[in-house]
Amino acid sequence: MRSLVGSSWKMNLTSSDARSYLARLLPLVREVADRDLFVLPSFPVIWAAREALRGSGIAWGAQDVHAKDSGPHTGDVSAPMLADLGCRYVEVGHAERRIAYHETGAAIAAKVAAVLRWEMVPIVCVGERTNVGSTRAVSAVLRQLSQGLSACRAGSSRRLVIAYEPAWAIGGSQAADIDHVISMAGVIRGWLARSGPSVDEVHIVYGGSVDHHNASEFLDAEGLDGLFVGRAALDPVEFAALANLRLGRSRFREVG
Ligand code: PGA
Repeated sequence: MRSLVGSSWKMNLTSSDARSYLARLLPLVREVADRDLFVLPSFPVIWAAREALRGSGIAWGAQDVHAKDSGPHTGDVSAPMLADLGCRYVEVGHAERRIAYHETGAAIAAKVAAVLRWEMVPIVCVGERTNVGSTRAVSAVLRQLSQGLSACRAGSSRRLVIAYEPAWAIGGSQAADIDHVISMAGVIRGWLARSGPSVDEVHIVYGGSVDHHNASEFLDAEGLDGLFVGRAALDPVEFAALANLRLGRSRFREVG
């Protein structure tokens, strides 16, 4: 399976910024052949990503979605709107949204169902809120998985991405310990095999303070299928460096 390296820009980069960012990025990742890349701009910027990325092999998507397809939901954006913009991925249940908007497991499940209904790939974010050890991390993640994926009907999804992102490692100065991440990826994979929806392909990716110092250990790790990057990827040269990292090597490879 090809690994996946993607970034959410969160609430950064205007459409004009996105144009310069992607013009800078594209030549730097032209030779990436063994993994899939994506970017998730904010809603108003998706069209600019589509203009720049069409035909490039780099996918684009969104950071959130409303569960309903249309209706009186002021300020919200629906899955058909995202599908119409050519989005391949839609992130759901990021820790920042769970915390700031009190998103419940049921709300996340309805969003995942909407993404699947419109034949896009949900990136379902799970992870414990505080660094309290593996027992509590396992129970938090298992609860989030069983709630968040509860509305996936059998056979409804062909692809799924689970982003393991402990909230305490997001936006901080240090990523989670690699052994912890590997063991949580095993927990997620075990749950998917036992109780998860039937899917053709699941990627389990790690996010939380990924940068060029630590990216190769996550990319190389057994049981992990890629990276989900925040701040470090706001620099296109840095994102390109992560995208170009050679598997099986622990050294950062300069690009450009
Ligand atoms: P960060 O964000 O890389 O800036 O820690 C990661 C994320 O929220 O996915």
